[in-house]
Amino acid sequence: MEPVISLRGVSKVYRRNGREVRALDNVSLSVEKGEFLAVVGSSGSGKTTLMNLMGCLDTPTEGEYLFEGENVGELGGRELAEIRNRRIGFVFQGFNLIGGLTALENVELPLAYRGVPAGERRALAQEALALVGLGERTGHLPGQLSGGQQQRVAVARAIAARPPVILADEPTGNLDPSSGRAVMQILRRLNEEGRTLVLITHDMALAAQAGRRIGIREGRLCGEEEHEFPSGGEGIFGGFRPPRAIDNPITNDIIRP
Ligand SMILES: Nc1ncnc2c1ncn2[C@@H]1O[C@H](COP(=O)(O)OP(=O)(O)O)[C@@H](O)[C@H]1O
Ligand SMILES: [Mg+2]
Repeated sequence: MEPVISLRGVSKVYRRNGREVRALDNVSLSVEKGEFLAVVGSSGSGKTTLMNLMGCLDTPTEGEYLFEGENVGELGGRELAEIRNRRIGFVFQGFNLIGGLTALENVELPLAYRGVPAGERRALAQEALALVGLGERTGHLPGQLSGGQQQRVAVARAIAARPPVILADEPTGNLDPSSGRAVMQILRRLNEEGRTLVLITHDMALAAQAGRRIGIREGRLCGEEEHEFPSGGEGIFGGFRPPRAIDNPITNDIIRP
């Protein structure tokens, strides 16, 4: 069976103030249907860039990306939007809920974009909120919910349209440990039900829950144990080295990896 996600020699280069940042460097990666993959890396390693590419929110500078066998680089904006809306559920670190809308309305929103009729929309949204344990809170505004509850609304929003793929970028990053565990439990269950799950995190304990783990460091994939710089007391940063000297215009002239 062909992989859901297949990156071949993908690089992403950002240009900022005439300076190039190679946020991803020759990344090749396949994710099979139904897998739970964790991508582990420290801050600045390229995790969000990778998630944006996998989620068709951005396109590679070099290389090829096939989503469900389709070459994303050959698709137009409308087709990319279709994939994002129908095939992928996104969960971000910031919950990105709309403050003036109730939990139910927030979850309904992506369904509205894809033209699901109101009645069906409501039913799907209600079902998704029940699944994340918020069936009794559907009329609450985000400001009336705890961080953990808001993230569960965001998870409900991601899954309401029943996408086969879920991409989660530091989904528990803003949560207390117990809310974080609850959100992870929901994501794990969705994977056990057959959805492909890619979890992007800097947290090895979270990554340990995945079926497979890979590391990312300076925009390149590596073993899960190599995702961070070795700690030690060397250098003027006392063991901390900036993720990539070239990314940092201040240190760029002082330090080179
Ligand atoms: N839009 C952008 N323009 C310029 N540089 C960027 C942009 N987005 C990310 N970068 C740089 O690319 C590198 C990887 O960033 P990112 O993917 O956000 O890492 P992570 O999510 O692992 O913290 C960083 O050095 C970051 O500064
Ligand atoms: Mg990030």
